Amino acid sequence: MSLAHGHDLIAIPGPSPVPARVLNAAHRASPDIYAEPLARLNLSVLAQLKRLAGTSRNLAPYIGNGHAGWEAAAANLFDPGDAALVITSGHFGRSWADMLAASGVAVERLDFGNLPPDPQRLADRLAQDREGRIRAVMLCQTDTASATSADIPAMRAAMGDHPALLVVDAIASLGCAPMRMDDWDVDVLITASQKGLMCLPGTTFLWFSDRAAARRRAAVSPYWDWHARAGAEAMWRFWGGTPPVQQIYALSEALTMILDEEGLEAVWSRHARLARAVWAAVDAWGAGGTGIRLSVADPAARAASVTAVTMPQAEALRAWVTRECGVTLGVGLGAPDPSAALRIAHMGHCNAGMIMGVLGAVQAGLTALRIPHGGGALEAAAASIARSG
Ligand SMILES: Cc1ncc(COP(=O)(O)O)c(C=O)c1O
Repeated sequence: MSLAHGHDLIAIPGPSPVPARVLNAAHRASPDIYAEPLARLNLSVLAQLKRLAGTSRNLAPYIGNGHAGWEAAAANLFDPGDAALVITSGHFGRSWADMLAASGVAVERLDFGNLPPDPQRLADRLAQDREGRIRAVMLCQTDTASATSADIPAMRAAMGDHPALLVVDAIASLGCAPMRMDDWDVDVLITASQKGLMCLPGTTFLWFSDRAAARRRAAVSPYWDWHARAGAEAMWRFWGGTPPVQQIYALSEALTMILDEEGLEAVWSRHARLARAVWAAVDAWGAGGTGIRLSVADPAARAASVTAVTMPQAEALRAWVTRECGVTLGVGLGAPDPSAALRIAHMGHCNAGMIMGVLGAVQAGLTALRIPHGGGALEAAAASIARSG
């Protein structure tokens, strides 16, 4: 008989668990969208979002998912035939490059497989671009599929005095791992609401530097034009039409939890500590050559929000923990053999109890399915949590 009945545990890397408080904040009839209270709340959410990204510069909000954020960046940055260097460290970087190429950008890929990018290779490539043809260097801070983390300050340093803009997809990292957009000299930052921001899917945000703002395209549709949104005064202009009213309330609540209640640095630290607990468990399962291992070997190159695991019978294990324990793990997206890979998310509204529950369910699944594994994984995770307290 299944033990899945109870509170579901969602450990997929987005959409992440939405706090009840955030859902409740959204649960309201639409107010007058021309009245003062909503306009004020909208401005305060935009100010919170700037704090989240570590910038005092420009912010354009859009209704849409992360793909819409990619689209918005492309619409504002590139005329047909402009060159972009896209750094790929997994499935998301690769599909971003494909999307840009399909929309007429001259894409060059600097591919690292499922490994984090090496700043030296970026420096070497840009050194060859003597005429400064490359308009933008684009990369994911966390590629959610490979669960790698790029060192953004090191990548910026590798660009030296090359004039390209640095465009960072922080869809799986903002609100989970450090981001200091102005200090790190990031030109364009993209995120979406359904991961570290602990909100409903459906909104995406682009922060952009004054340098990026100065690069005006010959023609951009008024809908995508980030200047119209960043410099808006009327409510409809911020959002290119009807604002996502209920989501604005949700964002306000979630950002208050992150910025004013827990505190951004504490949020980053919680993610790092939960990640280390997961890594400790996986290392213990893998002891003695069982074939279970962390897909990213170097701890410094692992994401704070999601962990990729390579293991025999991963697909069967995922099905078992869902059916028997009510725990949903991420699929092995973009892995060399997706049936032998899975991902454990520790993203957004996630605490130590949830992580121990997820790891406990995996432990039960390994035992039930007789998948060879080392002992002491739950003790190792608990010790990691105890140590880092
Ligand atoms: C790093 C990254 N970029 C882009 C996307 C695409 O976002 P969306 O699925 O919201 O369109 C995702 C989605 O998981 C992602 O993880």
